[in-house]
Amino acid sequence: MAQVDLGLTRIGFGRTARIDRWWVGPSLAFAGLSAFVVYATWAALQGAHYTSGPYLSPFYSPELFGDSPHSWFGPKPSWWPAWLLFSPALLVLWAPGGFRLTCYYYRGAYYKSFWADPPSCAVGEPRAVYRGEASLPLILQNVHRYFMYLALPILVILAYDVWKAMWFPAPGGRTRFGIGLGTLVLAVNVVLLGGYALGCHSLRHVVGGRLDALSGSPVRRTAYDCASCLNRRHMSWAWCSLFSVGLADLYVRLCSMGVIRDWRIF
Ligand code: FES
Repeated sequence: MAQVDLGLTRIGFGRTARIDRWWVGPSLAFAGLSAFVVYATWAALQGAHYTSGPYLSPFYSPELFGDSPHSWFGPKPSWWPAWLLFSPALLVLWAPGGFRLTCYYYRGAYYKSFWADPPSCAVGEPRAVYRGEASLPLILQNVHRYFMYLALPILVILAYDVWKAMWFPAPGGRTRFGIGLGTLVLAVNVVLLGGYALGCHSLRHVVGGRLDALSGSPVRRTAYDCASCLNRRHMSWAWCSLFSVGLADLYVRLCSMGVIRDWRIF
């Protein structure tokens, strides 16, 4: 791209003529994302206390291999290297994790909060060059669409987990329909994750049409309008679903550990 010298003087890191509290947003994003990454990593590495009754933590779903009744293919496979830590979450969490990491909204948030590139509009940054997404490593962010293809089926599985969370163990080895607080926690989480994932910028492109023109198909135009509607509040969906998915894991974990008891509504 051609460059034009505007004769501007580069200002030092953090210097600005702005008088508003521009640092509040990046600071909150730094604290929120850091807390989530630390908690999610810790929870994923535990490999325990991720189920309680009919509830399964969303960090561990789908449980491909594991010891709980939710496991699809049985316990830890014999071919798993003995030296390698095993946790069912490690087999699946990379897909929704990669989806979030490469999300267009989060890129804007953590480029400001973690790389200060720049910390905010019209605020001095710590480096002289713009490290764009046209070269390594940030060019890898462009795999977002492929993570979306992996994350959307997991959303369907999480919705199925909510259905399973309505069937509680009953005498005689049977199950009985019911609703617990955990059912609601998992259900709200799926709604928020759905609002986030179905408003994905890449999804709009996929359902909307071709490279530079909208499809003439009414079905695709409707899907595009729905995705665009959700996308208008993508930031809110992103933060609410980040909170809800962590809370859902915490709820199941605390029930499993016996720290709290699930409240059965009926
Ligand atoms: Fe945020 Fe795709 S742009 S999830």
